Amino acid sequence: MDIRLIDPADRDALRQVHELFELIRATETPELASVAEQQYARSLEHPPPDSECRCYTAVEDGAVLGLMWLYLPFKENAHYAEVELAVHPAHRRRGVGTALHDRLLELARDEARSELVVMARAAVEGGPSRPDTGAKFLEKRGFTAALNEIDRSLRLADIDPEVEERLWQEAVAAAEDYELVSWIGRCPEEYLEGLGRIDSMIFAEIPLGDVDLRPRTVDAAFIRTREDRAEANGNAMIRTIAVTKGGKEVVANTLIYAHEGQADVDQAITIVDPAHRGHRLGLLVKLANLRELREHFGHVTTVWTGNADDNANMVAINDLLGYRPVDARVSYKRRLES
Ligand SMILES: CC(C)(COP(=O)(O)OP(=O)(O)OC[C@H]1O[C@@H](n2cnc3c(N)ncnc32)[C@H](O)[C@@H]1OP(=O)(O)O)[C@@H](O)C(=O)NCCC(=O)NCCS
Repeated sequence: MDIRLIDPADRDALRQVHELFELIRATETPELASVAEQQYARSLEHPPPDSECRCYTAVEDGAVLGLMWLYLPFKENAHYAEVELAVHPAHRRRGVGTALHDRLLELARDEARSELVVMARAAVEGGPSRPDTGAKFLEKRGFTAALNEIDRSLRLADIDPEVEERLWQEAVAAAEDYELVSWIGRCPEEYLEGLGRIDSMIFAEIPLGDVDLRPRTVDAAFIRTREDRAEANGNAMIRTIAVTKGGKEVVANTLIYAHEGQADVDQAITIVDPAHRGHRLGLLVKLANLRELREHFGHVTTVWTGNADDNANMVAINDLLGYRPVDARVSYKRRLES
């Protein structure tokens, strides 16, 4: 068995990667949205700003037995590496996972990473069952659960229009000193600095459990690179911000990513500046962004979101909107000597 680094131009190898991820999704987490085949090549070719994505496969006689997908930031979080590791269900318990894990430790050392995070799925109360093979495998290898993020989904057809209207009116009344601006695609020049300022707060403000991710600076260049990447990857960015009336200071921000040809979309960050909390701005920007989504992306059926289990404020807003828990994405971490 060889462990190989995938060349993003090798479409045949990436087709096999897609097939393996899709097989595991369909058998172990069928409620989750599938990922389109072309997204894998695009993610390798256009990673998030200041980072690299890599895919390694474990191959025997031309067949992919297992794989790992790595995310390596290079700037503020150059000590960190995040990984998805998976083995074909028909080839488990014969050392493939261990071989990939051992290669991962070598790679982490080569790249001077001291914080290694591997993801595993877990069941949540009221949700479908999930295998615990990943958790057991990682715990035996010195990893501990460091962050528990609950994935929730919202079917747009299930939103009660009367409830939505009542929430909208309440939020508008509580936020009378603010106004909303929505757009799809690139940030207008006039909000670039303000968006960068509020997005720079993200890693300092969201609960991250015991995961050591440090605040990063989001400047105009970062925002433009992220937009270039979304366009190259066929992802539409649907954004609503709240600004102070008159002053136009950006004080709240929410973002949904829609993927070309897909009915499932991803709710990304929602953040309200700590100096402007308590005015229902989190609920207001999310409601406004859902309106944008429905107006411009009529084929979309479902929105997905993930929040740390102790992020009470965001979870309360999602409950009001009708999101329901599906499962958990657990970050298992291991510290390495650097
Ligand atoms: C977790 C996962 C990657 C493990 O892959 P795997 O190829 O089965 O891993 P290995 O075969 O190296 O090790 C699994 C167990 O089989 C045992 N094993 C290895 N070779 C064996 C053999 N020939 N006969 C019997 N058992 C064997 C190992 O000792 C290990 O047991 P341990 O964890 O108690 O030490 C796999 O179950 C998987 O893909 N799960 C779904 C994805 C997932 O959860 N990923 C996130 C976490 S990694």
